[in-house]
Amino acid sequence: MTYNDIYKWVNRKLNKKYRSIYYEPEILEYPKEILLYDSYWRGLETIILDIITKFNIPTSSCLEFGTENGYSAVAFSNYFDKVIGVDIFTGDIHAGKHENNYDEVVNKLKQWKNIELIKSDYRDYIKLHTNDFHGLIHVDIVHSYDETYECGLWAVNHSKCAIFHDTESYPEVKKACYHIARDTGKRFYNYNKFFGLGIIS
Ligand SMILES: C[S@@+](CC[C@H](N)C(=O)[O-])C[C@H]1O[C@@H](n2cnc3c(N)ncnc32)[C@H](O)[C@@H]1O
Repeated sequence: MTYNDIYKWVNRKLNKKYRSIYYEPEILEYPKEILLYDSYWRGLETIILDIITKFNIPTSSCLEFGTENGYSAVAFSNYFDKVIGVDIFTGDIHAGKHENNYDEVVNKLKQWKNIELIKSDYRDYIKLHTNDFHGLIHVDIVHSYDETYECGLWAVNHSKCAIFHDTESYPEVKKACYHIARDTGKRFYNYNKFFGLGIIS
């Protein structure tokens, strides 16, 4: 058995255990404004309009947990009146830890006037914003089960649609999506390209 065979076998097992609805975009659109940065998120900007259309998402506001250098935040800024990016700005065990770079990212994104960056742990943010509601919430923090489940459950309960990056590259993210959808009675769609995007609505 080659590494590839084992990978496919494990993936088949995971997909059977944590079932999702296969997501097939109908509209592919490359947005006008994109950050010239080699993010793992690259590629997903082409399906934002499709998600907004399919799930009839209001475009007044989008909230994101896990902004890093701003690739996904800038992509969302093409479609939403306001984008709020919440991040600890010190990285994590999966993305890599680093010194606080909040000021640097704020400066880099200053031309996008509809993006607001907030330096906060998602745990503190959700405690303070109990009554907020957004059209779309994007979860792309540390890819561990407990954090993804806690942040994601709040996201699903405070948005029309919540999306989760890295369902294909981190099985814990797919597992958390499956459990959140089960526990909230919502549907879990999975787009299997660009490291995977879980969509719960
Ligand atoms: C995978 S990166 C985000 C990538 C980004 N969405 C992009 O488009 O390139 C994960 C980010 O989550 C942040 N993060 C990790 N744990 C967090 C937490 N508890 N609260 C807020 N942000 C967190 C890290 O600082 C890191 O910048």
